[in-house]
This record gives sequence, structure tokens and C-alpha cells, in this order.
Amino acid sequence: MDADLTRQVEASFDGAADPRFADIMRSLVRHLHAFIADVHLTEEEWAAAIDFLTRTGQKCDAKRQEFILLSDVLGASMAVINVNHPTGGSATEATVLGPFFVDDAPEFEHGADISGGAPGEPCFVSGTIRSPSGDPIAGALLDVWQSDETGHYDVQYPELETPQGRGRLRTDDAGRYTFWSVQPEAYPIPHDGPVGDLLKAAGRGPMRPAHIHFKISAPGYRTLITHIFAAGDQYLQSDAVFGVKDSLITEFDKTATFDFTLAPETP
Ligand code: BEZ
Ligand code: FE
Repeated sequence: MDADLTRQVEASFDGAADPRFADIMRSLVRHLHAFIADVHLTEEEWAAAIDFLTRTGQKCDAKRQEFILLSDVLGASMAVINVNHPTGGSATEATVLGPFFVDDAPEFEHGADISGGAPGEPCFVSGTIRSPSGDPIAGALLDVWQSDETGHYDVQYPELETPQGRGRLRTDDAGRYTFWSVQPEAYPIPHDGPVGDLLKAAGRGPMRPAHIHFKISAPGYRTLITHIFAAGDQYLQSDAVFGVKDSLITEFDKTATFDFTLAPETP
């Protein structure tokens, strides 16, 4: 490795006004140069990498974020989550947000049907939201979204005008949430772009095991973004985005029950 060059580029960030930016860039340069030396990257390979990143950018629009997908399939999204939400405490583990979250989902009453007519076997989902000391958290806000039995989210149907398998709920005084929906199904991440080409070149599949997404927030607690996964799904060991954590796997058999624990905002 050309240590002189690496030192020179690192030093070029010494005058940055933001010291955190300088730290991040120097570390990036060190790792990038070490990587290039490690694999003895050829000029053709570097050009192919630039072309790949160019195509990744060109695939992005208001609805498609190919760079996040790239981050997901490289495990970078999960690595960032793991750094920022270390496990070991009693809080429920976090996993990827994914591209199908919608900010303004409709609100539902306790026990309502959020399927909106989505095709699938009815499934009753319930549980409790608690603090690490076990106290129920009343009035916690849950955003829930999931695929239907064909493995599609509502936003993937261009013709569909109303939300399906998606909603916002609040916990009751006992910290409980309940809703009806449909059994979620495994599905492929979008793979008709450069990230799909990468998966193919790697001999990897695009599938994610069946799951329901949750985003749970309550005053005084860290917002939790996670899923619950269907036990027994054939893709639990080969999730395209490495999002599965054993603690998030639960039985789905017409009903699913899952209790969440939120971490306090200031530990
Ligand atoms: C999802 O679970 O919705 C998802 C996550 C990452 C990439 C694609 C989809
Ligand atoms: Fe999903």
C-alpha cells in the first residue's frame, strides 16, 4: 500500500471545520486505500465499480432508493442499527426500516381491521408495550405495515387508492395493542436494478422472510423500528438484507402475539 499517498489524503481533511467530518473522512480514506491494496483492484474493476454506482444513482427516483437497497444487501444498514442500538439490555431489538414505510398511515381503534381488504388469511395480532422495568406504556404510537399473501405492500399496487395492511394504533391504559390484519408472506426486495444484478452475481436470492413492520414511539423512550418474523419461514436463515434477529421470531398461526420493550431516551 502507498502509505505516503494515504497519509497525504488523510491530512487533506485536517483543516475541516467539523472535526467529526474530518474523522469520518480520514477513516474512510484509510479503509478505502487498504481495500484497494488488499484486493489489488484493477483499473477495469474500479471502472466497473464506478459504473455500478452510477447505475445505482440513476435507478433512484421519488419512489425507488437503490442506494438504501445497496446498503441493505451489504449489511451496512444492519451494521449502523447494531452500532446505534446495541443489544444486551432488555429493550426489543431493532431492524431495518425498508422502503415501504408511509408517514401518514390512517389511524385505527384498538382491535380494528387494518387489512383494508388486502388478500390473505385473517390474522389477529396483539401484545404489550412496556418499559425495561416492566411498566406498561399507555398511549404509545404504533405504525404497522406488512405484505399481503402475494408478498406485496399496498404501495406496490399502482392502481390501489386506499391503504392496505398499514395503520397507526395507540396502546390502551394497560399498554396493550390489538389489531386484525392478514398473515404476511415472504417477498423479494426490488431486484430489477443494479442491486438485483449484484445479488445475481453473488448467487444470492432477493427474498425476505414473512414479517410485520412496527415503528413504536412514546414520550421519554427511543423510537423502536423493528419487525416480527413468522417462525418456520424458509427464508429466516437467508434474509436478503440480514434483518432477522432470533428474538424477533414468533409463531403466526391465525394469531401472533409479541410484547415489545422500549429503551428509555436517556439510559
Ligand atoms: C422491507 O422489509 O420492507 C424491506 C427492507 C429492506 C429492503 C427492502 C424491503
Ligand atoms: Fe418488509
